[in-house]
Amino acid sequence: MTGEERAHGVTPGLCRDYATRTADHQAAFLQPYLRPGVRLLDIGSGPGSITVGLARAVAPGPVTGVDHDRRSVEEARERAAVAGLPDVTFHEADVRALPLPDASFDVAFENNVFLHLADDALTAAREAHRVLVPGGLLAARDVDAGSVVWGQASAALQEFDRLFARWHQSRGTDLRLGRRLPAILRSAGFTVIGVSVSADTKWRPEDVRLHGEAMVQLIDGPFGADVVERQWADVPATARLRDGVAEWMRHPDAFFANVHVEVVGRRPATA
Ligand SMILES: C[S@@+](CC[C@H](N)C(=O)[O-])C[C@H]1O[C@@H](n2cnc3c(N)ncnc32)[C@H](O)[C@@H]1O
Repeated sequence: MTGEERAHGVTPGLCRDYATRTADHQAAFLQPYLRPGVRLLDIGSGPGSITVGLARAVAPGPVTGVDHDRRSVEEARERAAVAGLPDVTFHEADVRALPLPDASFDVAFENNVFLHLADDALTAAREAHRVLVPGGLLAARDVDAGSVVWGQASAALQEFDRLFARWHQSRGTDLRLGRRLPAILRSAGFTVIGVSVSADTKWRPEDVRLHGEAMVQLIDGPFGADVVERQWADVPATARLRDGVAEWMRHPDAFFANVHVEVVGRRPATA
């Protein structure tokens, strides 16, 4: 991937939205297992805002992030440098074929990456299994959109939500992957030792704005182009979707919440 080109579906607006994520929130379920010195892998690290928090928790343990979007990798490197974390490295690579040696990590983590891989989520989980030491842990967290709540959703926003889910589905993204995570980890050879859920909630005006801007950018970009090309909506209808999102962003009581399933699996000590 070169220059301005982004990995499929990754937009600057989405990256700004992802960069609001933190290890304290999105990786809270993993924190009890983290100790100084742990060697940690962040699978699909994106802009690296969670990765740097994880790095602080395991310092001086080395942390590696892997993502196939070059710009995200560059942003993550910058973020780690600004945070003064020299033991964090990022690779541009496919998480289904990690360029990393066998049994080289104690803990692997992923947040909202397996859902984009469709049937290859199992391949990625097997790769995590390969690079973990026996006894090592995979902590996986993916959305389950069976439980999305839009506070103050207009009819246009509900229509956007419906088309957005259809669009994701057509691209192989499983917005209900969360509920399949325990089965995926078990199939990849892990013993599941914990299942929990937590929600990502956008309610502060700044977060609502970032979330809305990311949606508008998708409507003006890949999502909008695809829905028109597939004749799911015409151009005036996509303009109404944009207006619906813009109206939601301005509403003082707007919020968005979606539940994520969190699973911790252990690579059996003998496997
Ligand atoms: C929803 S973002 C999550 C980023 C980060 N984990 C977070 O929660 O902030 C999904 C990330 O997975 C990356 N990704 C998707 N498929 C990938 C693949 N096959 N190999 C490597 N990275 C991938 C995307 O580039 C993107 O950065």
